[in-house]
Amino acid sequence: MRRFGDWVRLTDPHCQDEVKEFQEKVMNWWAENTRDLPWRRDPSPYNVLVSEIMLQQTQVSRVAPKFNEFIEIFPTTESLANANSKDLLKVWSGLGYNRRAIWLKEAAKQIFERGEFPQTVKELENLKGVGPYTSRSVLIFAFNRDLAAVDTNIRRVLIASGFADESMSDIKLQPIADKVLLRGRSRDWHNALMDYGAQVMTSSSTGIAPTSKQTCFEGSSRQVRGAVIRVLTEVTELGLGELMLLLDCDLDESELKSIMFQLMDDGLVEMAGDSIYRIAK
Ligand code: ADE
Repeated sequence: MRRFGDWVRLTDPHCQDEVKEFQEKVMNWWAENTRDLPWRRDPSPYNVLVSEIMLQQTQVSRVAPKFNEFIEIFPTTESLANANSKDLLKVWSGLGYNRRAIWLKEAAKQIFERGEFPQTVKELENLKGVGPYTSRSVLIFAFNRDLAAVDTNIRRVLIASGFADESMSDIKLQPIADKVLLRGRSRDWHNALMDYGAQVMTSSSTGIAPTSKQTCFEGSSRQVRGAVIRVLTEVTELGLGELMLLLDCDLDESELKSIMFQLMDDGLVEMAGDSIYRIAK
């Protein structure tokens, strides 16, 4: 495949052929290799929002079974808006990054109070926990809107296919994704690119590394936060000392207190008394 080096050349009329060829290659492959993912069966705006929030930092294989369970328990925006936080966190358990669950509930409340599902990037970005990527993907997957979104799989496909460079930032990748978009079939196009990236142009087959890196500290603090939430969903409330014992980790009291502050800041936990904590109501 010819390498373009500079995306500006995609405006060159000769490149239109390359784009067409690329679209055909991806869509022909996809016709035979579509993944059957639960959120694709009924891509309602609510289902798509739930799945996209779940998929933000968690792998497809872990999200798929959780998504079904979640939709059975909270089938509508209204049911999620009225969810009890403890029940919600129990269902969320295993997905990690628990504050996403609380944000999703907040978003459901916003949508329910508004009376209709937001349908523009700007309106969607006003929802709790929804940034530029998620708002675009909701419009793409729920409304088949002619927009492009770049996730880690799509980025790898664009690079491996010669349309982009590994050094390019998200800002540079966006206009390339816009140019190669299969107009009128945005939902299928993004599903196809994601499947192609996940199954053919993988990290190991292409040697292209993902951009996001997490420091060890972020990783371990996140693990402790997850463990705290797991413990607190099993009890009514708990003192800091008991929490330390149950967590059985290498933190001193002031470190655990700072983690409890983060969890309170995220709206996951609240104080039930002096150094006593519970899941926020
Ligand atoms: N990652 C983010 N959104 C996705 C989707 N709709 N399908 C597969 N992987 C995804």
